[in-house]
Amino acid sequence: MPVDRRRFLGYAGAALAAPPLTACGGVDKVAAPGVPRSPFDAESTAEEVTEGVDLTGKLAVVTGCTSGIGFETMRVLAKRGAYVVGTSRSLEKAQAACIKVTGITTPVQLELSDFESVVACAESILTLKSPIDILVCNAGYRGGGNERQLVNGIEKHFVVNHLGHFILVNRLLQRLYLAWQGRIVIVASRAAYRGAPPGGIDFDDLAMTASYSDSLAYGQSKLANVLFSLRLAELLRGTRITTNSLHPGVINTDIDRNLNPLTRFGFGILTKISGKTIAEGAATSCHVATNADLGAISGKYFEDCNAVTIRGDNHMQDMAMAERLISVSKELTADYLIEQKQPDPEDFRKGAGKTEQPRG
Ligand SMILES: NC(=O)c1ccc[n+]([C@@H]2O[C@H](COP(=O)([O-])OP(=O)(O)OC[C@H]3O[C@@H](n4cnc5c(N)ncnc54)[C@H](OP(=O)(O)O)[C@@H]3O)[C@@H](O)[C@H]2O)c1
Repeated sequence: MPVDRRRFLGYAGAALAAPPLTACGGVDKVAAPGVPRSPFDAESTAEEVTEGVDLTGKLAVVTGCTSGIGFETMRVLAKRGAYVVGTSRSLEKAQAACIKVTGITTPVQLELSDFESVVACAESILTLKSPIDILVCNAGYRGGGNERQLVNGIEKHFVVNHLGHFILVNRLLQRLYLAWQGRIVIVASRAAYRGAPPGGIDFDDLAMTASYSDSLAYGQSKLANVLFSLRLAELLRGTRITTNSLHPGVINTDIDRNLNPLTRFGFGILTKISGKTIAEGAATSCHVATNADLGAISGKYFEDCNAVTIRGDNHMQDMAMAERLISVSKELTADYLIEQKQPDPEDFRKGAGKTEQPRG
């Protein structure tokens, strides 16, 4: 069979990029029950999925706003009228990103591997004295070169992608309670089921001394993203806060900055041929953050703007693992957490007066 040039480049890119991006096949993806099917798909853009949505008066926080999916998410939420707080490890970079956006934005410094920085970031957001309507945990780290890095004895992907956001969510929850309907959106990845260790999160070896590869570590941290959202949704049941996780697609962003040049080249080809644009890559985040039909949907995992259930040999719905994740994460970050008091119905009543029901 003749292979045309475009298809050949796609195969070549997939072959080169395969080790860090995927691990095992055999998954069965079906529509998640109980969630309205959206008219959007893999080709929808962030602007298209938010067409007609009015976020005026809403406060959104987007971590990792300086490039890729995070920048586009901030740009589109601000375009729809939200006041967006965007974070970066460098305040200057966050400022530069915010300046590029039309709308109201505020840059804040956040280094997720430094828990003092996470606390300081949360404190500075709390000075805004406003309910938080949308919290998009988007920032992410992807190592390369299979060189294991530790932060306080814990493997770096787990710290940056999960534990840092775990603290941020804990400290901002008090303001999400006060919103008309607070939404937590956790940008995970399909690496949660394609690239995580077969046994799931190895809580007994979070330094990953026994077996390490950067793709395994990334996959484990992304599984932690999904399971955190799954369990948090249970804990928040009965409140007006929802939490959902998602895979944005495969997009040519700076996420591959630490990969070796050959793998980067392969990833570049793969994303050009069969990946999404950045505008499409931010669509699922923006859809989950704003769509009126999703106001009561929580604990779901989304791909291409729709909630899906991933069947097969994976841990995407493993509630026992999710419960253990919460208790281990609490232990590891105890010095940086604040105690959550049970939501007071009075807060809700007051909160309802503070931000309005989403329009559009
Ligand atoms: N691109 C894809 O194909 C793909 C696929 C699946 C999932 N994802 C996920 O999508 C999210 C966004 O990634 P992207 O593709 O847009 O990548 P990106 O362009 O590299 O953006 C990552 C963002 O995270 C921030 N960041 C990185 N390390 C950080 C740290 N230690 N502390 C705080 N912020 C940090 C970066 O900000 P500064 O450098 O300014 O600090 C940057 O704004 C990530 O969670 C990623 O895992 C991406």
